[in-house]
Amino acid sequence: MAAQSNQSKANQSKPDKSKPDKSKSDKMEKIVSLCRRRGFIFQSSEIYGGIGGFWDYGPLGTELKRNIKDAWWQDMVRNPPAGPNGKAFQMVGLDCSIIMNPKVWEASGHVGGFSDPMVDCKACKGRFRADQTADTACPKKPSKMVGEHKECDLTDPREFNLMFKTHIGALEGSSSVAYLRPETAQGIFANFKNVIDSSRVKLPLGIAQIGKSFRNEINPRNFTFRSREFEQYEIEFFCHPSEADEWYTFWRDVRHAWYVGLGLRSDMLVLREHEGKELAHYAKGCADVEYDFPFGMAELEGIANRTDYDLKAHIEKSGKDLSYFDDQRKERFVPYVIEPSGGVDRSLLAFITEAYTVDENRASPEFMKFHPRLAPIKAAIFPLVAKDGMPDIAEPIYNELRKHYACQYDAKQSIGKRYARMDEAGTPFCFTIDGQSKEDGTVTVRNRDDASQDRIDKSRCLEYLRDQLQL
Ligand code: GAP
Repeated sequence: MAAQSNQSKANQSKPDKSKPDKSKSDKMEKIVSLCRRRGFIFQSSEIYGGIGGFWDYGPLGTELKRNIKDAWWQDMVRNPPAGPNGKAFQMVGLDCSIIMNPKVWEASGHVGGFSDPMVDCKACKGRFRADQTADTACPKKPSKMVGEHKECDLTDPREFNLMFKTHIGALEGSSSVAYLRPETAQGIFANFKNVIDSSRVKLPLGIAQIGKSFRNEINPRNFTFRSREFEQYEIEFFCHPSEADEWYTFWRDVRHAWYVGLGLRSDMLVLREHEGKELAHYAKGCADVEYDFPFGMAELEGIANRTDYDLKAHIEKSGKDLSYFDDQRKERFVPYVIEPSGGVDRSLLAFITEAYTVDENRASPEFMKFHPRLAPIKAAIFPLVAKDGMPDIAEPIYNELRKHYACQYDAKQSIGKRYARMDEAGTPFCFTIDGQSKEDGTVTVRNRDDASQDRIDKSRCLEYLRDQLQL
């Protein structure tokens, strides 16, 4: 990939430019606070004051993230939708190392050009992205934007490479330099021939990977949206050049629909085609899936027709033949690549933002309306009181349900408080065992979204959950 062009594309995404209005920034603050309070997301190394651009996922956030990645893998890799006009294709996965031979990053253009323009302030010693000074707060008081204090003394913009450098082995020298990968894509390109030779797969073929990437962002911001360590889900879809336009449209629409299917309202999402001059020089087409966050419209994923640019760059640098022989067409060619490339953390933040619901009439005015597939906990099981034989009925129900779904058992506090906690966690159903359960063997099921209650036989809990969740 021509990294510089790609990064400038990333820089053009909107979040950093639009000024949030008060109600939206309040909403964002409430979401951040709920995330911390309920264990979705914590600041990394918080006990030492944190570290900018790094985040930890708590117990609920970890389940949510796992559910997002599982849904992506299931829907894109194991059971993807049918191709255009029912065309068949194959999908396989990879799990590549984070540190690769540095020549990979020379070939991809990252060593030479994966950079942002930045300025230093000689007065406050801060370093800022040159294209974001108007939206970035100056550390000096009273609060103003960078460059607005009369003491501000900004240098001319200089390019700053975003790759994290490290050293391999005991000696630190130029020959031991290595990089933390800034994208997962290059591991896929570097393994294209290995996959073809080892896996009896044919084009059209998608190779998918989920994994950590690292970028030394100058101004990480907007909670987890722009982080220095983040996770990507990427597909490099290899096809014959004559079919690339068709596959580009297919993947663009599939990826947009996937977000809608998991609960992002379509009026909060935009599929934005890049204008000619916005396109990276190697790309024939590119569209971003953007979500309307409280801090502005911002990119969740880019879908690009990257042509044969990357494979040709690696052919040239490595001297290895990465062309493909198509035995149907009787033709050898360097495949074109369609790349749907998304950020797991960004989509998680979008799913959290979408799920966040306020209803002052409920015991928990804030609750999380996650799509059932994404909900970190699918069901909670509550004995009304932890005595009178109720736990004896509740525990076997819990032990049965947890074999199939992420469940939680809670016997403490008032039932209202327990419902409220589960609402904040986004748990779709709560089963309560009460006095009547002992008499007639029924339990109540409470629905998170409208707080309505059903009464069902205790033997039907699993069946009920399965029907309602459709999972
Ligand atoms: N292989 C292409 C590529 O990496 P990108 O637009 O630079 O393209 C793809 O990144 C996705 O990775 C973005 O759409 C975004 O979701 C995620 N991403 C990129 N930089 C990020 C950051 N600093 N923090 C969180 N997510 C990021």
